[in-house]
Amino acid sequence: MKWPAKKISTSHGATNTKLILRHRFLTRVTHWSWAICLFFLLLSGLQIFNAHPVLYIGDQSGFDFSNRILEIGANYKTGTGFIDLFGIRLDTTGFLGISKTNGFDSARAFPAWLTLPSGQDLAGGRRVHFFFAWFFVFTLLIWLVSGLVNGHIRKDLIPGGQDLRSLKADFLNHIKLKFYHTAQYVSIQKLTYGIILFVVFPIIILSGLAMSPGFNAIFPGITEIFGGRQTARTVHFLFMFILSGFFIIHMIMILAAGPINLVRSIVTGRYRIEASPKSTGGSSDE
Ligand code: HEM
Repeated sequence: MKWPAKKISTSHGATNTKLILRHRFLTRVTHWSWAICLFFLLLSGLQIFNAHPVLYIGDQSGFDFSNRILEIGANYKTGTGFIDLFGIRLDTTGFLGISKTNGFDSARAFPAWLTLPSGQDLAGGRRVHFFFAWFFVFTLLIWLVSGLVNGHIRKDLIPGGQDLRSLKADFLNHIKLKFYHTAQYVSIQKLTYGIILFVVFPIIILSGLAMSPGFNAIFPGITEIFGGRQTARTVHFLFMFILSGFFIIHMIMILAAGPINLVRSIVTGRYRIEASPKSTGGSSDE
């Protein structure tokens, strides 16, 4: 589907632009569903983490084991909060370990403004988390089936030979915040979105299922894939952290590449491209 071309000049020499349909309805709906789900999953996940703010490797957890790799806690003698990562301890008072809740210092791993519900409430956090976890899985399945049927995955996300050849140029363009508005994702976008959709999302879901006693009863082997229940919890946390990093870079790139055009495209589908851009090693936006 195409919208009429319109003459305007842009900052880097293109004189003609036109509106195209960049994102199909299901791509847009599923994108926003998982953005909402991930918001609730992150905040409720931090609430659940707060109930036992230590990460381990292997199957065992508790005071008697020396397999802990991360701990967020409070030192009650000094009144300070800390994060301990592989034995390296940093003072994080005010943010991690000890933070203000309703104006008073309180000992909690993540602060009240970063958890859902904001007060200490493990049961409430688990209810929110499991609801959005299944909703997330459901929307991802819709995205996968529709993307296979309508060709979105094959045409827009799987990198071809030309994408691999232009990867370096696209990467350098992104570092220099140089963006060109063309119909297709550039190679660096295909690679990044592909890693998020086919590596990060599945690992987050599988490591979550590996911690579920109900799912373990059906597929006992899933915990072993991760090398134990505690490792699955650590992997779950680590990939949530990676996803948060992706989100920050995703937002920076969108702001740098032209937020109005891009956000309009992921909301309404309409995206303005340069009909005759100057030729470059790379192209596009976020
Ligand atoms: C955790 C939250 C988010 C995740 C995991 C995420 C992930 C993704 C992924 C995987 C794609 C490619 C989708 C596809 O082609 O099927 C995408 C596209 C896009 N996202 Fe997000 N996104 C998130 C939040 C947001 C937010 C809050 C915004 C807007 C402010 C946004 C704006 C966009 C835009 C504009 C595109 C299309 C880029 C283009 O057409 O070049 N995303 N996102």
